[in-house]
Amino acid sequence: MTATVLRADDARAPTLLTGGWRVVGESWGARLRLDEPPDLARFERLVERARRTAEIRELHVTEAAAIATLEADTHADFPVTPATPHHLRDAAATAALLRAGFRAFGAVLQGRLLAVTIVRAEGESAETDVTAVTRDARRQGLAAGVKAASVLVLAAEGVRTFGTGGAAINAGSLAMNRAVGYTVEERWLSLAPPADGA
Ligand SMILES: CC(C)(COP(=O)(O)OP(=O)(O)OC[C@H]1O[C@@H](n2cnc3c(N)ncnc32)[C@H](O)[C@@H]1OP(=O)(O)O)[C@@H](O)C(=O)NCCC(=O)NCCS
Repeated sequence: MTATVLRADDARAPTLLTGGWRVVGESWGARLRLDEPPDLARFERLVERARRTAEIRELHVTEAAAIATLEADTHADFPVTPATPHHLRDAAATAALLRAGFRAFGAVLQGRLLAVTIVRAEGESAETDVTAVTRDARRQGLAAGVKAASVLVLAAEGVRTFGTGGAAINAGSLAMNRAVGYTVEERWLSLAPPADGA
């Protein structure tokens, strides 16, 4: 299926829908904008909460295999849309990503990786690539904690705007990002043309 992704408020969307295009996915984009100077107390609190469960820290390229395993173990839990795919990466691909400048922050308990967020930072902006928490460690503040840890580290390096996104049906991800401080700024529609089995 070849889907076209448009902002929900794009003037072309109503015309396409009237013409038989179908919504096959909905997604959102959210931003967290830090003030100058940034107030980081919220992120410090989130990291502190997560530290009651696990060590929260930046991950190294030598931990790429553990990151890839966590992503593979949670792959089925990612609600994907054409705009929010989840591509599996093996250890080598994950290592290449980190060598290319992506940053990973994780929650580690007794040598086991429980949570990861991977972020790409460029200048004053950063964008989340993926966040995942192993099933048995959810709802303990680990996703919020690793994302907050990435904000603390990258804010110290000058990043001021953080972006993230996900599928509309991923209520957990949306709620978690709101808990970190993200605000939804865009909503997106994935539209399939009538020829695709309508
Ligand atoms: C989404 C995901 C990363 C959340 O991880 P988590 O560690 O459970 O999230 P946290 O515990 O940090 O959640 C922080 C807050 O977000 C909200 N939240 C998290 N998951 C939620 C859910 N499933 N439903 C409703 N609210 C949720 C809660 O307010 C929570 O705080 P609380 O537990 O004190 O009420 C995890 O469920 C996951 O790995 N899912 C599969 C992969 C995925 O969808 N990743 C995101 C897309 S990139």
